[in-house]
Amino acid sequence: MAKHDKKDIGISTILNPVPVVMVSCAGKNPEDASERPNVVTIAWAGTVNSEPPMVSISVRKSRHSHKLISETGEFVINLVNKSLAKSCDYCGVKSGADEDKFASCGLTPVKAKGLEYAYSIKEAPVSISCKVVSVTELGSHDMFVAEVVAVTADEYLLDENGKLCLDKAKLVAYNHGEYFLLGEKLGFFGYSVSSDEVFEKRMGYSRKVRDKYKVMPKNEKKGKKF
Ligand SMILES: Cc1cc2nc3c(=O)[nH]c(=O)nc-3n(C[C@H](O)[C@H](O)[C@H](O)COP(=O)(O)O)c2cc1C
Repeated sequence: MAKHDKKDIGISTILNPVPVVMVSCAGKNPEDASERPNVVTIAWAGTVNSEPPMVSISVRKSRHSHKLISETGEFVINLVNKSLAKSCDYCGVKSGADEDKFASCGLTPVKAKGLEYAYSIKEAPVSISCKVVSVTELGSHDMFVAEVVAVTADEYLLDENGKLCLDKAKLVAYNHGEYFLLGEKLGFFGYSVSSDEVFEKRMGYSRKVRDKYKVMPKNEKKGKKF
C-alpha cells in the first residue's frame, strides 16, 4: 500500500485541528446561582468575518451556557494557554447549572470590556468580548454569530510597540479529541514567497541555513548555534 492510497473513512466532524476556547458568560442577575458567571468549553468556534471582526460559536441547546448567552446576547471567548488546559477540559465536562465553575477551577471572573453582563476570565491571555448578531439552528447545535466589540490581552504579550506577540502565549489547539500545545513555527503569512531578508527577520535564521540542514533550527535565536 502506497502512502497516499485513500480509504473512505465515513462522514464526521473531522476538520482538524480546531481552536478550543473557554467561553464565559452570565445571566442578567449574576447574584442568582442559575445566572452566575459561567465558563463553557467550545471547540466549534471560528472567525467568520474580518471587517467588522466577527466570530461564531456553536452551542447545544442543552448547555446551561446556551440559556445565558441567549438571555443577554453576550459572551467572551477566552483563549486557552498551557496553564488553563486542565480548567478548559473541566469546564467542558461539568455544567454551570450544577456548580460555580469559576470557583471550582480557581479562576477569577472580571467584568468584560465593552459588555454589560458577561464576564471574562482574568487568567486567560486574551479575551474577546462578543455581542450576538444572529442565531442559526443548524441541527445538533445553534450557531451564535457575534461581533467582536473589545479585545484585551495580558501585557507581557505586547512588545515595546504594543504589537501582540501571540507566539509567546503558549496556546493550545484541539486535534481529534486531544489537546496540544502549539509548538514549532514553520513559517508566516506569505513566507513561501517572501524575500530572504524578510524570511530571516521573521524566522530568526536564514533560508540557506534551513535548506542546508533540512530541519528547523532548535534554537530560533538569531546567530546562535543549533
Ligand atoms: C474539548 C471540548 C470541546 C467542546 N466543544 C463544544 C462545542 O463546541 N459546543 C458545545 O455545545 N459543547 C461543547 N463541549 C461540551 C460542553 O463544554 C459541556 O457540555 C459543558 O459541560 C457545558 O457546560 P454548561 O452546561 O455550563 O454550559 C465541549 C467539551 C469539550 C471538553
